[in-house]
Order: sequence, then structure tokens, then C-alpha cells
Amino acid sequence: MQVCRNGIVYLNGEYVAAAAARVSAFDGGFMYGDGVYTTLRLYRGRALDLAAHLERLRRHAAALSLPVPLDDVAFAAAIDRLVTLNDLRQGDGRLRITISRGGDPDDPLPLHDLLRLVPTVLMTLHPVPVELAAWAAEGIAACVLAPGSARGGLAHLKTLNGLPAVLAQREAAARGCREAILVGDDGRLLEGAISNLFLVIGGVLVTPTGEDYLLAGRTRERILSLAAGLGVPCADRRLDPSDLHAADEAFTASSVREVLPVTRVDGRPVGDGAPGPVTRRLQAAYRDLVEKALPAAGPPAA
Ligand SMILES: Cc1ncc(COP(=O)(O)O)c(C=O)c1O
Repeated sequence: MQVCRNGIVYLNGEYVAAAAARVSAFDGGFMYGDGVYTTLRLYRGRALDLAAHLERLRRHAAALSLPVPLDDVAFAAAIDRLVTLNDLRQGDGRLRITISRGGDPDDPLPLHDLLRLVPTVLMTLHPVPVELAAWAAEGIAACVLAPGSARGGLAHLKTLNGLPAVLAQREAAARGCREAILVGDDGRLLEGAISNLFLVIGGVLVTPTGEDYLLAGRTRERILSLAAGLGVPCADRRLDPSDLHAADEAFTASSVREVLPVTRVDGRPVGDGAPGPVTRRLQAAYRDLVEKALPAAGPPAA
């Protein structure tokens, strides 16, 4: 199991031992999933795309009329302190920022005057899983879930209503897979439980369209622009399970796991069953982008 090395989290302005961190039993996040989060990767203590992640966090919070009580400078300072406290200056970390409603013990279902509630801000930092490098090199197995496995009616927002994604990941794990591919009511492919999906079909990089039904992630955006820069034709369009079986290559993309080749789906090889050339080029281009972006993300490791 992954644990914070020193196990310190940020909670409402305090740095506390992870095992001792507590939020109110009346917090709307706990009671109703009333909150938002984002997850990003820190490279040697420096965040890639922090500004973009915070902008999305604020946008998604605004959709729930949820105030975000820290500005970008305060977030950056708190993250930097968390890196030091967790001794993650030299390694890669998975940072999760969670903002939830807060709560009022006298009003367990607040519907009015929401701004009187003090939101909870939690930041946790863990080392990225050690297995990630092997998954990136060798590829992973995925499975396609049944129609109706979308992350719900607010799938375009990163809310705390994580149960559909959690159930999807459990199903994938039970089927011996690292990722589950979610499918809409109408049978279309949507996204991974915790990633966006890309296929290479006839030399074209394609990703499911439907911004209302999936989270169009920051890494998806990065991959599409890297592919355009490499001269790889790209399209977003409706994709169906049959496209997966016809694809030459497949991969998932997310901030923490970056680009992971999908080499088997439902027990069948994708293409020749090995990570494909377009996937490899995009993996390398993404790594290149990370190294170029890091100097702007803060000072090098002390
Ligand atoms: C459902 C879902 N889709 C897509 C993504 C990828 O988003 P991003 O690239 O912004 O990390 C994630 C990341 O956690 C996710 O949970």
C-alpha cells in the first residue's frame, strides 16, 4: 500500500499527521459528495500545470457555488511546504487537492446561504506508484464495462461523487486489469475510470468526443497539441467498442499516470499486443514537455 513517507497532509491551514486528519461528520463532502478535487503530478517536488489545475478546480467549484478559500500563491506555498514535510523533493508525487462544502451540525442539509459554511481544504501527497514505470514500458490491460457505466450526470466535473469510478476500478481489478473503460447509455466509449482514452486507427489519433459525458482532462489537451506538433492527424469523434478491436494502438492519459499503452482489452491484444509507435512518440514527447516545463514550475530541488 502507498503511504505518505512522513504522512503529513494539509488540512484547513494546518499540517497534520495523515492518520490524525479529521473533518466534520456534517461536511457536505462526506454527507453528499458536495465538493470537487483535482489530482496532479509533482516532478522532483515541482507541479506540472498547477495553474491549469487550479483554474479547473475553481471552475468546477463555481459550478457547485463552492468558494475556494486559497489563491494560487497560497496553494503554491502550501504545496511546497507539503513537499518538504513529506520528503518528496527528489521523487515524484501524486498531489490531490480536495475542497468540500464544510458543514453545520444544526443544518445537516444546507440549501440556503451556502456561503456561511467554511469549506474544507485538504491536500494529500503520496509517492507515485513504483509500478508506473513498468506499466508505461510494457503496457497495461484494460476492460470495457457495460453500457451505463459513465461517471454520472456531472461527468464533466471532478466532483467528490466518485462512486461510479471507484466501482469501475474495482471491477477492473477483479478482472485483472489496470483500467476500466466506461461506456455511455448509448454504447459509446467515454473515458477510463481515472484517465482519458486514445486510439490510433489507420494512422489517426482519435479520442472520444462528448465533453458533457466525460472529463476532458488536462493531459488529453496536452496530448492533442503534442500530436498536432508531431504531425500526427487527430480527431475527436464517437468511438464504439468495435473501434477498440480495430485499433492499431490504444493508450490512456492522465496527469499522474501520464501516457500508459493499453496492450490488451478484454483479454484480446490491441494491434500486435505491444506498445505502438505513435504511443511511444507521444510518451517521449510528453516527458520532453515535462522537463521543459519544470523550470517555470519553481526552483530546482534544494
Ligand atoms: C474520469 C477521469 N477522466 C480523465 C482524467 C484525466 O484528467 P487529467 O489529465 O486532467 O489528469 C481523470 C484524472 O483523474 C479522471 O479521473
